[in-house]
Amino acid sequence: MTALKNDRLLRALKRQPVDCTPVWLMRQAGRYLPEYRATRAKAGSFLAMAKNPEIACEITLQPLARFDLDAAILFSDILTIPDAMGLELYFVDGEGPKFRNTVRSAADLAKLGVPDMETELRYVMDAVRVIRGELDGKVPLIGFSGSPWTLACYMVEGGGSKDFARIKAMALNDPATLHGLLSVNTDAVIAYLSAQRAAGAQALQVFDTWGGVLSPAMYREFSLPYLTRIARELDRGANEEFTPLILFGKGNAAHLEALAESGTDAVGVDWLVELSEARRRTGGKVALQGNLDPAVLYGSPEAIRTQVGNVLNSYGQGSGHVFNLGHGMSPDMDPEHVGVLVDAVHTLSARSPA
Ligand code: CP3
Repeated sequence: MTALKNDRLLRALKRQPVDCTPVWLMRQAGRYLPEYRATRAKAGSFLAMAKNPEIACEITLQPLARFDLDAAILFSDILTIPDAMGLELYFVDGEGPKFRNTVRSAADLAKLGVPDMETELRYVMDAVRVIRGELDGKVPLIGFSGSPWTLACYMVEGGGSKDFARIKAMALNDPATLHGLLSVNTDAVIAYLSAQRAAGAQALQVFDTWGGVLSPAMYREFSLPYLTRIARELDRGANEEFTPLILFGKGNAAHLEALAESGTDAVGVDWLVELSEARRRTGGKVALQGNLDPAVLYGSPEAIRTQVGNVLNSYGQGSGHVFNLGHGMSPDMDPEHVGVLVDAVHTLSARSPA
């Protein structure tokens, strides 16, 4: 494999010095880009694109052709795992993801197993291989998975949810079944991330999008132990082959000390916590990723530059920061503003050569 021409992301995740702060954005490939909408119109649907490695590659590279981003993220979805477990994922326009089958009882759980990564999820690994080839070392490729808890939310609810009523009822009334589900999800996530690494992913992120809907005590019971198991058990290699792990969690501010002790390499945070505070509370044990409020992209270029500067200042001097939004981009955001953001991160964080 070709050597990386831009290794800022990997250096920052390993808390090594960088010439400027690396930046990538959650949902950097997606509906805000006209070229994405054009490809989607041709392909017919999101799933048709995600299941076709050449199209997934084309979309992964679209934002890199426009912006000076320091990483590519695999174009796919977190719901590929439950789909491969037999839940049958589909999308209804305007309503988001849905499953034909749900997991609501011990009998439903008994039907689940860890999918085979090179058959049932081969399209994901093929996409990773095609993208690595096309990137040709330009920037590293990030692979990803949902967290065991976040996957379970969709599997139990059968789709998105406002109140998480079914899964929270399961946590209270049938915790053994929920722990069984979280356990099989954890095995699947570890196998999935390992397979993406073997296929060529150079950094890995776990999205715990819904960890923040849990009370602290419930989070410590139903999300944290499984994130910790992933961080401890996932083989990331060593030296040049080392593949850093980022645990991103929406609303994870109450748990930063615990996440820093989990064995992960980096923690991704949303904008409800100051990076200076997150840095103090994680005590240099992990790198930090984040945490600009995505809504800042609705501001003027001048406002975006000011807010980028505030995030960089909040982290402060020294290595170990990867710039990102605190959550994903929205379809109505202006692509030009993304260019302003990316350039502001690089310019405002440039270190003079020692
Ligand atoms: O960040 C990236 O650019 C990589 C690609 C990526 C997608 N989904 C593409 C996608 C990633 C990392 C995800 C993860 C994902 N998927 C999460 C966790 C991240 C987060 O936002 O916290 C979740 C919760 C999902 C489940 C999911 N898939 C949702 C809620 C949706 C949106 C549905 C809607 O109608 O808004 C999807 C579909 C999806 N995944 C789209 C994209 C670009 C939109 C597809 C389209 O309609 O064109």
